Amino acid sequence: MKDNNVFRGDNKRIIAIANQKGGVGKSTTAVNLTAYLGYYGYKTLIVDMDPQSNSTSGLGFESGSDRKSIYNILISGESINDITCKTDFSNLFIIPSSIQLAGAEVELVTSMKREYRLKEAIGKINELYDYIIIDCPPALGLLTINALSAAGEVIIPIQCEYYALEGLGQLLNTIKLVRENLNPELEIAGALMTMFDPRIKLSEQVLSEVKKYFSSKVYNTIIPRNVRLSEAPSYGKPILFYDPDCKGALAYKDFTKEVIENGSKRTG
Ligand SMILES: Nc1ncnc2c1ncn2[C@@H]1O[C@H](COP(=O)(O)OP(=O)(O)OP(=O)(O)O)[C@@H](O)[C@H]1O
Ligand SMILES: [Mg+2]
Repeated sequence: MKDNNVFRGDNKRIIAIANQKGGVGKSTTAVNLTAYLGYYGYKTLIVDMDPQSNSTSGLGFESGSDRKSIYNILISGESINDITCKTDFSNLFIIPSSIQLAGAEVELVTSMKREYRLKEAIGKINELYDYIIIDCPPALGLLTINALSAAGEVIIPIQCEYYALEGLGQLLNTIKLVRENLNPELEIAGALMTMFDPRIKLSEQVLSEVKKYFSSKVYNTIIPRNVRLSEAPSYGKPILFYDPDCKGALAYKDFTKEVIENGSKRTG
């Protein structure tokens, strides 16, 4: 099933998918990007840092609270290897989330090196994977800070809607602060426009505003609003294994190629 036209990019990339705004497509992007990275032969790990556990359930794992999760790594210091699970999809592994993680924001506050818990855990295993993709919760608290401290890059999904740019200043400021204080390596890989509906004139307007805001750092691929993308998680499958020919699938496939190609440009 491999597509040999894809440029083999830079290995060992850690990418956070972040936007504190809820429902903009972070988990949909994390699940489908990782599935296509696996499909293209890259050994990939998805880390679910959101107590809502949407990427965990979207990959067919029950999000019941008794299963061990990223919580046990961040708070109890358990071994990352013991918590990592293989998914049913090729080359794709997961560190699942659970509702317990909701308490982690508060529990982390008093812990040592609280911003680096994820970075330290990932540091023990990052040589095993080509890509590590971190799905962030819709907040700029310690869970997202842990993700941004561990990552080399951040992808920002932006929903094509009227208030799309609202809150972006706050997000970019947080990224700047993380870069200055915690992780000088962090780069914005790009903004990804999601849920684009060509019938809505507004979408075009939002797109041009986002392009102005991020200049060249907007992915060429635009993810359309596509009902198949919203159905797939209830079957516990990435779109590639649910409806690989639908518009949403083709868009996430193109987006994944862009991510891979941009990585190889970054390293020359
Ligand atoms: N391109 C799309 N077309 C149609 N529906 C979509 C699309 N992308 C995401 N959705 C749906 O929109 C909802 C929000 O998407 P998603 O969960 O990916 O956003 P999120 O940013 O992770 O949300 P949260 O901030 O709550 O974590 C979900 O029901 C998802 O299935
Ligand atoms: Mg989510």
